[in-house]
Amino acid sequence: MEKTKLRHLFEQMTFQEKIGQLVQVSPHFLDENPEEGTLTGPLQNVIMAEEDRFVVGSTLNTQTREQAAAIQKRFLEKSRLKIPLLLMADVIHGYRTIFPIPLALGASWNPALIEEMAALSAKEASSEGIQVTFSPMVDLVRDPRWGRVLESTGEDPYLNQVYAEAFVTGYQGTDLEKDHEKIAACVKHFVGYGWAEAGRDYNRVDMSEVELHQNHLPAFQAAIEAGAKLVMTSFNVFNGTPVTANKPLLETVLREQLGFDGVIISDWNAVGELINHGVAEDHTQAAQLAVAAGIDIDMTSYSYIHAQEELAPLQEAIDASVWRVLNLKNDLGLFENPYRGLTEEPIDTEALRGEARKLASQTLVLLENHDQTLPLKADTAIGLVGPFSQSQDVLGSWSLMGDPSQSVTLEAGMKPYARQLQVAPVAETTAISASEWQAIHNVFATSETLVVALGEASRESGEGASKSDITLHPVQIELLKQAHATGKKVVTVLFNGRPLDLRAVKQYSDAVLEAWFPGTEAGNAVADVLFGAVNPSGKLSMSFPYTTGQIPVYYNQIRTGRPLTEETKGYQYVSRYLDIPNEPLYPFGYGKSYATFELREIEQSTTELDPDGEIHFSGLIKNTSNYDGTETIQLYIHDQVATVSRPVKELKKFQKITVPAQSEAPFTFTLIEADLRYIHPDLSNHADPGLFDVFIGTDSLAEKVGTFKLLEGGKG
Ligand code: NOJ
Repeated sequence: MEKTKLRHLFEQMTFQEKIGQLVQVSPHFLDENPEEGTLTGPLQNVIMAEEDRFVVGSTLNTQTREQAAAIQKRFLEKSRLKIPLLLMADVIHGYRTIFPIPLALGASWNPALIEEMAALSAKEASSEGIQVTFSPMVDLVRDPRWGRVLESTGEDPYLNQVYAEAFVTGYQGTDLEKDHEKIAACVKHFVGYGWAEAGRDYNRVDMSEVELHQNHLPAFQAAIEAGAKLVMTSFNVFNGTPVTANKPLLETVLREQLGFDGVIISDWNAVGELINHGVAEDHTQAAQLAVAAGIDIDMTSYSYIHAQEELAPLQEAIDASVWRVLNLKNDLGLFENPYRGLTEEPIDTEALRGEARKLASQTLVLLENHDQTLPLKADTAIGLVGPFSQSQDVLGSWSLMGDPSQSVTLEAGMKPYARQLQVAPVAETTAISASEWQAIHNVFATSETLVVALGEASRESGEGASKSDITLHPVQIELLKQAHATGKKVVTVLFNGRPLDLRAVKQYSDAVLEAWFPGTEAGNAVADVLFGAVNPSGKLSMSFPYTTGQIPVYYNQIRTGRPLTEETKGYQYVSRYLDIPNEPLYPFGYGKSYATFELREIEQSTTELDPDGEIHFSGLIKNTSNYDGTETIQLYIHDQVATVSRPVKELKKFQKITVPAQSEAPFTFTLIEADLRYIHPDLSNHADPGLFDVFIGTDSLAEKVGTFKLLEGGKG
C-alpha cells in the first residue's frame, strides 16, 4: 500500500483501535468461542470483550494452516477497518521439519548453513500462514546452567554477529513484500538475558557498559543492519531496571545508537510482570511504563488493554508505535494479501528432510576419537545401548510444531549401515530397570563395539530449565562405566542442549560424539557421521567446563593482574583454583575430524600496519590422513597494551576449508584497523596504536604465529 494511503488509514483509527494494534493476543481469543476454561496463567483474568478482540494487531503460535486462515478471515469480517492480523510464531530451528538446535548450528562455523536453515524454516512456516518469527536469539552465553544456551549460537561476539546476519538474511530474503516464502525476523532478547545471575532463568542482570557494548550489542547490530524488522525485549532486570520499562536502553541504545526503527515487542507477559518486578503497582502503571519506555507491542499481558484510557496522555508515543506496526504489515504486503503464504500449495515437508539430514550432520562435534575408534565399520558386531538408542526425544526445546513421532531414532539411522546391530534401549534418562540391565549385559556380551547413547531429555534444557549440576544422571555414568569395564571399544553419543561436565564420559569412552538435539533427521545424521559417510567438522561455539564450579568459563577472558602461567604455576597468589585447572574440558573452537591436519609455512606480509592498510597471514593446510576432511582455521588476536584490559584472545577471522586426503590447500587471512577496534571507557569504538599478537590454529588454543604494530589508532 502506498504510504499516503497507509497514513489515511492511520488517521481514521480511533484511540481504541490504535491501542488494539499494540496488543498481541493468544489465538484462543480469536477463535469462535474463547472459553474461560482453556485460558491459563495470566490469561485467566482477562476475557476480552468483542470490541477489544476485533481491533487487536497480532497473535502468536497458531497451530495449523487452517487455523491461521480461519482466524484471519473471521477477524477481517468482524473488524471495522479490516487491518489484517500479524501472525507471529516461535520458528526457532524449523517449523514442522526440525533442524538442529541453534547451539548446534553455532558449532557448524558455517553462516551459509544457518542462512539455508532459516530460509527452509521460513518456507515451511510461511506456507502455514506465519509472517514473523521470534528468531534469531542472539544472546551471548557463558553459563551452561542456564537452559536457554540451547537457543544461542554461543559465547563469542564475532561469531554471534556473523550468525545473526545469516539468520536474518535467510528468513527475510531480499523482497519480503513480494516473496511469500519469506518471513520477518524478530531478533531477541534485548538485552543481556544470557547473563542471568547464577544461570537461573529470568534472574537479574548487571553488567558494565563496556561489557554490553563490546560483547552483547554487536550481534543485535548485525541483525539490525541485515534488516531485522522486530526486536524483542528480554524479561530481565538490566542494571536495576526491568528492560520492559528501561527507557534509556530502548531509546538511547536501541533506537539511537543501533539505529533500529522497526517494531519493539515485549516478551510474553513481560509488561504485566513489571508488577512482580516491583516497579509498577498494577497493570495500568505497567502499561504506562512500558509505553513510555518504548515497547510497541504488549505480548499477551493485556496491560495495554486494561489501561486504555490512562494511556491517553502518551498519545504521541502510541501513535509512533502504531505507525511502526502498520508499516510492518505493509512491508509484508498484508494489505494486498492478508492470506500471505496461505494461498500457495502447502509445501512438501518430506522434501525438507534430506536437507535437514545434511545440515544436521555438519553440526556434530567429535570430542574424542582414540585409536581411530570411529568411523565404525559396517561388519563389526555393534551393540547400541542407552536412553537415546530408540528415543524420538531428539528435537530439542522450541520445536513447537515438530512431531517427535516423525523423528528418526539412532537405531533407525544405524540399521542401514550396520550388518550386525543389537539394541538394548533404556526408557528413562534417570533410571534403568532390572530387565533393561539384563538386556544391556546380553548386548555387551555379544558385541565387539559398544555405542552408548546418553544425554538429557529435551525438557531439561530450554526456557525455565536451569540446572545447578550439569553432569549426566549418575545412572547413565554407571552404564558407561560398565560398558568400559567390558574392555570393548566404547563410543558415546550425546544428545543434549547445553555444554555438560563430561569428565566421566571422557574417562570411560574411546570416542565421544556430541550430537546435540539434531532434529527430525537425528538418527540418520548421526549414523552418517558414525559410519564415516560424513566426516565430522563441527567446532564448539561454547566452552565445555571442567566442572560446574568453573562456570562461567570462556576463551576470551580478560587478563588478570596475577595470571596463571608456566612461571607462576607453583605460586599461591595467582588467579587459579586449588582443585581444578583453569581451562575448560573442551575449549571454544574445538572439534576433531577423522582426518588430521597440519598448518604450515605461516607467513605475515608486514610487521607494521597503517590505519588504512592491510596485513595478511597466509599459509598451507595439509590433510595428512587418508580421509577427505573439512577443517576450520581460526585467527585470534591479542592487544598487548590497551586503555582497558583486553581479552587474552579474540576471534577475528575463520575459514572453513575442505581438503582432500593427503593434499594441501592455501589459506589467507586479512586484517585491517577496523578488526582491532574495541570499546573504550567512554564507549567510543576505535583501535589504539601498538602491538598485537596473532594466533592461528584449529581451536582457541591456537599458537602464536606473529606480532605486528598498528602505527596509528583509527578514528572508529
Ligand atoms: C517467551 C520466550 O522468552 C521468547 O523467546 C518467546 O519468543 C516468547 N515466549 C513467545 O513464545
